[in-house]
Amino acid sequence: MEDSGLFLTGDGSHSIQSEKFKVAYHSIHGAIQETEHVFIQAGLVKRLETKKKISILETGLGTGLNAFMSYLFAERHKIHLHYTSLEAYPVQEDLYKILNFAEQLGSDQAAQLQGIHTSDWNKSISLSEYFTFEKVLTDFNDYDFPSKFDLIYFDAFAPTSQPEFWEVPFLRKNYNCLLPGGMLTTYCAKGSFKRALKEVGFTVESIPGPPRKREMVRAVKR
Ligand SMILES: C[S@@+](CC[C@H](N)C(=O)[O-])C[C@H]1O[C@@H](n2cnc3c(N)ncnc32)[C@H](O)[C@@H]1O
Repeated sequence: MEDSGLFLTGDGSHSIQSEKFKVAYHSIHGAIQETEHVFIQAGLVKRLETKKKISILETGLGTGLNAFMSYLFAERHKIHLHYTSLEAYPVQEDLYKILNFAEQLGSDQAAQLQGIHTSDWNKSISLSEYFTFEKVLTDFNDYDFPSKFDLIYFDAFAPTSQPEFWEVPFLRKNYNCLLPGGMLTTYCAKGSFKRALKEVGFTVESIPGPPRKREMVRAVKR
């Protein structure tokens, strides 16, 4: 169990400060804003340009914000998503039950965010006709990365906190589990990370980041 604290980010949405990793789960300038920019627009919307039924892998379920916003997107646009999220240190009930994401997004589907958190581990469920969800209770290092994903939401804590996940060996596993044309998107644009992505075979794009962040990265498996 983790001893962490809830706080409000710049756009009014909640995030959590991890005591274990001494870092926040999202940009302090706006959690919803960051997810919308980095994962939904730069990742999901971009990937949908060339494939309509998408399988997503997320490294770090955390608050469930990326999963919840992907679910809302799938509902709104009637597209089929299969979403797998890895997590070793689940957010505890006292925190996830008070997250204000649905309210901040003007959504009446707060129950689905709770459903993401209360669903069984290692079991695929249909959250709706469009959204299949599975959360896997595992350390990133122990996951076998099956080759079946179209898009990776790469959302480990920053390299200052978890350097090993931004280096060649772990990135190679991510590369190998992507289908041809697959993409990885993340908030980080550190030089050594981009070089490591290229070394494992990705084509790397540096694109504008969310507000107050100059750049982020999208990497494509050609
Ligand atoms: C930046 S946060 C993810 C935020 C999340 N995507 C969201 O929407 O709230 C990083 C997540 O990775 C998880 N994590 C960190 N190290 C891990 C590891 N070695 N294995 C599995 N999960 C890990 C953390 O517990 C945390 O939930």
